[in-house]
Amino acid sequence: MHVKDLLSLKGKIVLVTGGAGNYGKCIVEAMAEADGTVITASRNLKANEAFVGQLKDRGLEVHALQLDQGDPGSVKNLRAAIEQQFGALHVLVNNAVARPMATYDAPMEDFAESMRVNATGMVDLMREMTAVIIKSGGGSIINIASMMGMFGPDLSNYEGTTMTQSPPPDYYFHNAGLINLTRYWARMMAGKNVRVNCVSPGGLFNHQPERFLENYTGKVPLRRMANQDDIKGLMVLLASEAGAYINGENILMDGGLNA
Ligand SMILES: NC(=O)c1ccc[n+]([C@@H]2O[C@H](COP(=O)([O-])OP(=O)(O)OC[C@H]3O[C@@H](n4cnc5c(N)ncnc54)[C@H](O)[C@@H]3O)[C@@H](O)[C@H]2O)c1
Repeated sequence: MHVKDLLSLKGKIVLVTGGAGNYGKCIVEAMAEADGTVITASRNLKANEAFVGQLKDRGLEVHALQLDQGDPGSVKNLRAAIEQQFGALHVLVNNAVARPMATYDAPMEDFAESMRVNATGMVDLMREMTAVIIKSGGGSIINIASMMGMFGPDLSNYEGTTMTQSPPPDYYFHNAGLINLTRYWARMMAGKNVRVNCVSPGGLFNHQPERFLENYTGKVPLRRMANQDDIKGLMVLLASEAGAYINGENILMDGGLNA
């Protein structure tokens, strides 16, 4: 098969959760530019629709649907809407994240709220969407974790800034869990033609304070944060036939920061 055909998502229905967020936007754009039919789902349908409108103006096939990942009814409604409107699902990008916990010593209620969405809700969503992917003949699940699920926080990045010196524990916990959940899921899908992989990105440039950028990028061999293009090729690779023999993997995408 020609490599351009291997990388094409033509005929594939792709769901990206949290698709109007920072990394989500890059992922949705990549999947649509590779000719996929892309559904972006998150709580804020208005923000989602505004983003979808911009991509539609460029001739890309993108749709917005509602999802509250912490609400089992909403997860079921999303599944029903996808089955009714699209009749199939081939790719799930598990990208949504709730950040209710701000610091090390924030109330445990905030930790519990994070688990409700980022752990319980995510597994619920994965089970519902995996069932549709299996019914559709198989496909690819891509979990977006973080390098913070692989390593502890580097507090020196925050020195000289007003950013918190006290990163919250929930983020390190659920991202680490997601990396091994990926391996679990890949094995559970044996014989079902469903590949399951994880991407653990480093920090995306988002106009962070100058001092933070200095602290952080000084440690990255590429001397910069991730930009909006960096994740796109990797997403299309893992979603498409070009990645057909990559399974159960976690790919660290941090510019060499942790090399
Ligand atoms: N931004 C970074 O620098 C960075 C670095 C490493 C990893 N990541 C990972 O990338 C992914 C996306 O992060 P981001 O920074 O783009 O986040 P973001 O906060 O910009 O976007 C998160 C998205 O999730 C959605 N969301 C939140 N709660 C939800 C819920 N209950 N139901 C449905 N949708 C919900 C939000 O509406 C939003 O669209 C996460 O998995 C994160 O761990 C981000």
